[in-house]
Amino acid sequence: MLEEINQAEREALEALEAVGSNDELQAWRSLHLGKKSQLKQQLKNLGRLSPEERPVVGKRTHEIRQRLEASLDARRDELEAARIEASLAAEALDVTMPGRPVRRGRLHVSTRTLRRIYAIWAEMGFQVYRSRDVESDEYNFQLLNFPRHHPAREMQDTFHTTTDDVLLRTHTSPGQIRVMRENAFDADGTPRADPDPIRVILPGMCYRYEQITARSEIQFNQVEGLAVGRRIRMSDLKGTLTDFARRMFGQDTRTRFRCSHFPFTEPSAEMDIECFLCGGEGCRVCKHAGWLEILGCGMVHPVVLANGGYDPTVYSGFAFGMGPERIAMLRHGIEDIRQFWANDLRFLEQF
Ligand code: DAH
Repeated sequence: MLEEINQAEREALEALEAVGSNDELQAWRSLHLGKKSQLKQQLKNLGRLSPEERPVVGKRTHEIRQRLEASLDARRDELEAARIEASLAAEALDVTMPGRPVRRGRLHVSTRTLRRIYAIWAEMGFQVYRSRDVESDEYNFQLLNFPRHHPAREMQDTFHTTTDDVLLRTHTSPGQIRVMRENAFDADGTPRADPDPIRVILPGMCYRYEQITARSEIQFNQVEGLAVGRRIRMSDLKGTLTDFARRMFGQDTRTRFRCSHFPFTEPSAEMDIECFLCGGEGCRVCKHAGWLEILGCGMVHPVVLANGGYDPTVYSGFAFGMGPERIAMLRHGIEDIRQFWANDLRFLEQF
């Protein structure tokens, strides 16, 4: 009898050595310590033993149970320790390895140029006014003195929508009318007696139905500017725009104004800056002219002032329009305007 239970103990301990997982541990437990285990059977059968044998076998059975239980706990601890060790080994961190660089995004070169332009105009007291991308023919052309079928419209090939007279703005100039009207009229449409003077810039995307080439894109930014008030003169335009050019391109920048024509300004001009690359000597960027064309400008046409609700016999103003992409191309020597919206990281990461 004793021999049998000692044998059972040896077998159980041996089996425990082979146990490798928690599930196996559970199985081992019910096999060797559970209700149907040999040990439990033995205890049930104690009654059949002789009075001399009974206490000896009983005591031994009890000892074995305690030993198996202790071994079970020890094995469970071992398994847990092994599991932790394995997972630590698997997840080991080498804290001496160099870190992975975090790839930082950056602002698009157009956004950077725009922000520089906003900052300069803000210093000069111009507020940013946002106007809409989808415009009516009336605002984009008619109120700016481009009558229907006027040949000047051909300078700005237009994306029309499927709705009559609704189009994507071809320039930011229609915003001029919107700002003026917002200032010149009350919400119910009554004209104000003495509307406030205006000093704003109107930045935004413009769209033209053009062939895309290295020099022309179907979408591009413009920054429009408008100053309206009493006794604003051409000299204010020249002084203000020259000041802008110096802040943007350097204090020694020279400017020149050339006559031009826009339907919404009279007189109209284009401003050139002396080429910052060659200092006026002539180079590839300025095409050997020594000058770079930066913007269009002029005194707001009386018809446009009147369309905006400002009496042209009392008020005057100047306006200008510049292309941040063009400025960025000149500043950074970018040769192909298609780069701006091509989303090529090799290009974008250079700024
Ligand atoms: N709207 C013109 C264009 O897209 C640019 C421009 C020229 C705007 C002269 C002006 C201006 O405000 O005075 O070509």
